[in-house]
Amino acid sequence: MKLFDPITIRNMTLRNRIAMSPMCMHSAAPGGFVSDFHLVHYGARALGGAGLIFPETLAVMENGMIGPGDLGIWSDDHLSGLTRLVDVVHKMGAKAGAQIGHAGRMLGFADQDAIAPSAIPFVTDNRVPHSMTEAEILNVIQAFNAAARRAGQAGFDVIELHTAHGYLLNEFLSPLANKRDDAWGGSHENRYRIVRLIIDEIRRDWSGPLFVRISATDYAEGGNTSDDFLIYGRWMKEQGVDLIDCSSGGIAPVKVPSFPGYQVPAATRLKTELGIMTGAVGLIETGDLAADIIGNNRADLVLIGRAMLRDPFWPRSAADQLRLSIEPPDQYTRYGAWWLDNQPRPEPARMESTAGKY
Ligand SMILES: Cc1cc2nc3c(=O)[nH]c(=O)nc-3n(C[C@H](O)[C@H](O)[C@H](O)COP(=O)(O)O)c2cc1C
Repeated sequence: MKLFDPITIRNMTLRNRIAMSPMCMHSAAPGGFVSDFHLVHYGARALGGAGLIFPETLAVMENGMIGPGDLGIWSDDHLSGLTRLVDVVHKMGAKAGAQIGHAGRMLGFADQDAIAPSAIPFVTDNRVPHSMTEAEILNVIQAFNAAARRAGQAGFDVIELHTAHGYLLNEFLSPLANKRDDAWGGSHENRYRIVRLIIDEIRRDWSGPLFVRISATDYAEGGNTSDDFLIYGRWMKEQGVDLIDCSSGGIAPVKVPSFPGYQVPAATRLKTELGIMTGAVGLIETGDLAADIIGNNRADLVLIGRAMLRDPFWPRSAADQLRLSIEPPDQYTRYGAWWLDNQPRPEPARMESTAGKY
């Protein structure tokens, strides 16, 4: 497999194996609504050649926002803006993924009450969240389900469940944040229960690609490691999850030892040992590294974060580095535009057909 080969996941084919990783931009209109910024920002990355665009995480409940300016998907009122956003991404040739999440104890409003599996703050001087009642847990499951339904209505091609980075579902999965002694804590099975029920609910209605983003290691004594995700990942696969997007950290206040490709080994391990597709993310900044990950079967997708903030045309830059030629947006070939300067000469037929139009 090659970086610029298409990939089919269920009923969806991406034009290449490059995805934009979800990144909160804190630019939503009050109430979590899509703004002009999102249309331009995500539209530009779709135009720039990525196969799949993940806008930032969409909050499934108002008390699940990571911070002010997050996008929401907790009400039908969000549908029109999200539909427009998906439409723009599609028109620029990419597919769109909805990452749905809940901040849990990381709720970004210090003066508000936060929910979590246990009354344990992220760090000791943080606000203490309250331990969720069973009714609250069931309510959250329904909120994820309703959010997934809305994502489908808005036209998203992929739904990704955010169970990483120390947010609510990660808090349930990790023994460092989940000290419950009821059916929702303790064993792997119990800590996974909320994720299992959410996936089952989503899968009842959603037949498209379903991804789960995980924190494959907590980097802390007593926390999850990739061994735990061999257990959780097997269950995810059995439940119809198509791809595990392998990130790490966020539950414990520790410095993550990051370097180019630092999270790739987890993606490779789950892919190899569970036979499930995986996504690799984290300091994948060069075409060489991305091509190595895909070409050597270390993961099925690469998700590009900050490098794609710096360069909306990251896929083209990666192709240049790899001395490959990729299709520019049609508009950029007209009048022999700048895109062609560093590309091998296009096919004569293409030149003729574009010249003939004007
Ligand atoms: C500004 C910013 C916002 C982010 N927001 C999210 C988010 O909403 N959801 C998520 O799963 N990860 C989020 N991340 C993490 C990125 O998706 C990505 O995993 C991380 O930046 C590592 O990839 P990179 O080295 O290519 O940037 C965010 C990262 C940044 C820099």
